[in-house]
Amino acid sequence: MSDRIYTLSGYLYEYQKSVTQPEEFWARIADSFHWRKRWSKVLKWNFDEPNVQWFIGGKLNITENIFERHLFTIGDRPAIIWEANDPNEAGRTLTYKELFYEVNRFANALKSRGIGKGDKVIIYMPMVPEAAIAMLACARIGAIHSVVFAGFSSSALADRVNDCEAKAILTSDGNFRGSKKIAVKAVVDEALEKSSVETVIVYERTKQEVTMKEGRDFWWHEVIASESEQCPAEEMDSEDMLFILYTSGSTGKPKGVVHTTGGYMVYSQYSFDNVFQYSEGDVYWCTADVGWITGHSYIVYGPLLAGATTLMFEGVPTFPDAGRFWAVVEKHKVNVFYTAPTAIRALQAYGTEPIQKYDLSSLKVLGSVGEPINEEAWHWYHTHIGKNKCPIVDTWWQTETGGIMVSPIAGITPTKPAYATLPLPGVQLCIVDPEGNELTGNSVEGNLCIKFPWPSMIRTTYGDHERCKQTYFSTYKGMYFTGDGVKRDHDGYYRILGRVDDVINVSGHRMGTAEVENAINEHPKVIESAVVGYPHEVKGQGIYAYVIADLTNRTEDNLINEIKEMVSKIIGPIAKPDKIQLVPGLPKTRSGKIMRRILRKVAEGSLDNMGDTSTLLDPDVVTKIIEGKK
Ligand code: WT7
Repeated sequence: MSDRIYTLSGYLYEYQKSVTQPEEFWARIADSFHWRKRWSKVLKWNFDEPNVQWFIGGKLNITENIFERHLFTIGDRPAIIWEANDPNEAGRTLTYKELFYEVNRFANALKSRGIGKGDKVIIYMPMVPEAAIAMLACARIGAIHSVVFAGFSSSALADRVNDCEAKAILTSDGNFRGSKKIAVKAVVDEALEKSSVETVIVYERTKQEVTMKEGRDFWWHEVIASESEQCPAEEMDSEDMLFILYTSGSTGKPKGVVHTTGGYMVYSQYSFDNVFQYSEGDVYWCTADVGWITGHSYIVYGPLLAGATTLMFEGVPTFPDAGRFWAVVEKHKVNVFYTAPTAIRALQAYGTEPIQKYDLSSLKVLGSVGEPINEEAWHWYHTHIGKNKCPIVDTWWQTETGGIMVSPIAGITPTKPAYATLPLPGVQLCIVDPEGNELTGNSVEGNLCIKFPWPSMIRTTYGDHERCKQTYFSTYKGMYFTGDGVKRDHDGYYRILGRVDDVINVSGHRMGTAEVENAINEHPKVIESAVVGYPHEVKGQGIYAYVIADLTNRTEDNLINEIKEMVSKIIGPIAKPDKIQLVPGLPKTRSGKIMRRILRKVAEGSLDNMGDTSTLLDPDVVTKIIEGKK
């Protein structure tokens, strides 16, 4: 791999090059891919509109770069190793050649159902190889996939189906998760009650009973039965949409982040190769779900473009017991392991006994993603999992960035606990004060922006370009605003401090406070609510909801439980508030704005200094809220 960074000075050299000559830099990286037609210009950009285009005029198909580009050399290498939820169930291994045939067969099946270039396809599936096959089959024929995490409720699914006007849904009968069997198809049926989706393809996983609607619903194994394992790849433009992925923001409605083909391809492989320092024959395991961006970029696209062996795990870290991750590492001799701080903290609580039973000597590199990793968890991971010999790559990035932006290069960048360290080549960070002035030099703290485009960046929010502009490009002129606070220390190392907007990060899952409030407000007894995040030992942040409600015919406990169920039904169990406090009023300014700063302080229990409350309409309400806190 000629684009591989091998030394710290190599990194510094490449970084410098990527800043002084970005077009030459990215052209060199992109040249190792297969383009049916090479681009005519590397980059055009304008952050005011915003309008960003990479590898302009280039024609390609991303699956040709996974398969045809190196099938001759790696056809018999395992592409996906699948580990089932139940350790007693046999897993599966698909070589590159086998995966290629499966992708083609399913791509042909989609075509036979009238799905083609530009059509939107929702994927709502468990962690089985068919989820990856579904994504790649869409990419093969130029259909645009939108994967929805299978833990989302029917109404959250319906919102996404309707927003992107999906033509088809790919799903399963059910889903095994730990000791539970979850109805998946039934959720889809409910979501589709008021929609015009023409086709539903159902993968048989749990064999539980489902209803199939004549003419709309088809079984996966039946639709592929007579399809050929050859399917020509559709020719795509660099800037054709590859996928839409919905994520939460500060307003109630999740937004569809749009990623396009050429830039995303180049960046996902480049960042995968370098950050993890993957070497041939390694087994790489990212524990995320394909429903999140981590699953897109670092279970499916990045590793498969790189010709790596990627492990997909269907289950949960604590089933059948808290040693499961380590059992899987031993069983498959995992070399690179990439997980979330929340999983580390959850396992930390079980002590080291579940680890000691297993041989973890295959591990070479550990990764962390999704939220700030606290020093304690970092040390635990380093000592007990990495046995003090594996570098930890703390990778900062976002759904919108498409790929890892700030991270050590494994084994090359000296690490510091809780620091994402340094930007990858091509990533021009900028720290600004609230007025948007750049804070230069070291030992500064402020809001994190990016001042130059990178290939895998968000292009638009689906169906609403103005929202993309407002959310990311309007807070600070001429810059992409990440929504995160950051510190650059005396060594120039970056430490991400967490969100500075109305987004909370619960177990690495992003949630908009307004989104949760909207769900709470659906309860007929609720008059108004305000949601904030608060520090949570395992989840990183928990959800704290302040609710004004009418208690007639309800006890407090009943109502609180009903509200939790309501949120679970409207968004999904991941959004269920950890704490709900019924309050007589909310701290509002005279202009009606809720002062969340105060609510955050109460939720985290720092009650002594509330700061200036003189602008509040009714300062007494704060006292009442503090008194009512349990
Ligand atoms: C937000 C993005 C990137 C894939 C998973 C989450 C937080 C992510 C880190 C990290 C500190 C992190 C940020 C970011 N975040 N990685 N290594 N250190 N914070 O993707 O759902 O789009 O969330 O997750 O706050 O803005 P996402």
